Amino acid sequence: MDETATLLVTGAAGRLGALVCRALSSAGRRNVVAASRSPERLTDLRVKGIEVRRADFDDSASLEVAFEGIDRALIISTDALSVPGQRKRQHRTALEAAIRSGVKHVAYTSMPNAEFSSAIPFAQDHQDMEAALRESGLGYSVLRNSWYQENLLAYLPNILRSGIWFTAAGDGRIAYVSRADAADAAAKVLAFGHGSEVVEVAGPEALTVEEIAVIIREVLGLSIRVEHVSQERLAVELARQGALPEVIPMVLGTEANQRAGHFDVNHDALCNVLGRPAKALADFFRTEMTMLLAPVRS
Ligand SMILES: NC(=O)c1ccc[n+]([C@@H]2O[C@H](COP(=O)([O-])OP(=O)(O)OC[C@H]3O[C@@H](n4cnc5c(N)ncnc54)[C@H](OP(=O)(O)O)[C@@H]3O)[C@@H](O)[C@H]2O)c1
Repeated sequence: MDETATLLVTGAAGRLGALVCRALSSAGRRNVVAASRSPERLTDLRVKGIEVRRADFDDSASLEVAFEGIDRALIISTDALSVPGQRKRQHRTALEAAIRSGVKHVAYTSMPNAEFSSAIPFAQDHQDMEAALRESGLGYSVLRNSWYQENLLAYLPNILRSGIWFTAAGDGRIAYVSRADAADAAAKVLAFGHGSEVVEVAGPEALTVEEIAVIIREVLGLSIRVEHVSQERLAVELARQGALPEVIPMVLGTEANQRAGHFDVNHDALCNVLGRPAKALADFFRTEMTMLLAPVRS
C-alpha cells in the first residue's frame, strides 16, 4: 500500500469528517487534505499539519481546486435533505470532479442495504451514488454506515422520561455504531481500501428494541415497557411524547426498515477493519449516562 498517497477528506468541518481527520493525524499519516465549505473552521486541523482546502459540492469550481493532486478521497455524504434531488446532484458533482482530477480510489459514506430501504426517505441518494461508484471505473470503498449510537441521544430521552417505548420495529434488529468507530473505519479504508469493496460499518451487536430496553435497565437502572404498535399508532405516540414533526418520518422509516431486517447486517465486518472490538451500546450508554439521565431527573 502506498503510504505516500495524498488523501482528501470532504466535509471536514462535520462531526464525522473532523473525527476522520483526527484519526489520520493520530495514525501519523502524512499528506492529508481536509476539505470543507468552511475552511476557516479547520484551524485545529491546520495546527496538526493537515492542509486545508475549500470544497463545496454545490460549487464545481471549488472542487477542481480541492481535488488537485489527490490520490484517494473520502466523499462524506451531505446533510442536504430538504431540497429533493440536491444531495444526489452534490455527490455526483463531487465524484465527477474526483474522476477529472485523476483520483484513483474513492470512499463514500452510504447506509446499510440502501437498495432495499425505500422506507428511508433518503436511501435513494445512497443507492444512486453506489451505482455511480460502480460505473466510475475507479477503485471504491462503500462504507455502509449503520445509524450512529449518538442518534439515540436525541430520541431516547422522551422514552426514558415516559417509561414506555412505543415501537413498530417488531423483532427486527439494528446494530448502532459509534460515530468515532465509523470515523476510524473511514480513515482506515481511505488509507488502505482497495479494489471494489462494500464495508458494513455496524456496531458489534444487532439488537431488538426489547434487548436495548434490557441494556437500558442494566446500565441506566431505568425500567422501560416496550409496547409494539402499528406505524400509524407510533406516529401518534411519538407526537404525544414530544418528538419534533421533522423527526417522525425518519423514526417511522427506520422502524419499518428494522422490522424488515434491513439493519440486521454483518456486525463483525467493522471489527475486522478496525483490528479491535467496536464500541458496544452498553458502553455508549455508560459514557453518555449523565446526558441520558438529565431529562429524567429534571
Ligand atoms: N448513520 C447515521 O446515523 C447518520 C446520522 C446523521 C448523518 N448521517 C450522514 O453522514 C454524514 C456525516 O455525518 P455527520 O454526523 O458528520 O453529519 P454533520 O455533522 O451534520 O455534517 C454534515 C456534513 O455535510 C457536509 N456538507 C453539507 N453540505 C455540503 C456541501 N454543499 N458540500 C460538501 N459537503 C457538505 C458538511 O461538510 P462541511 O460543513 O465541512 O462543508 C458535513 O461534513 C451526514 O452528512 C449524513 O449524510 C448519517
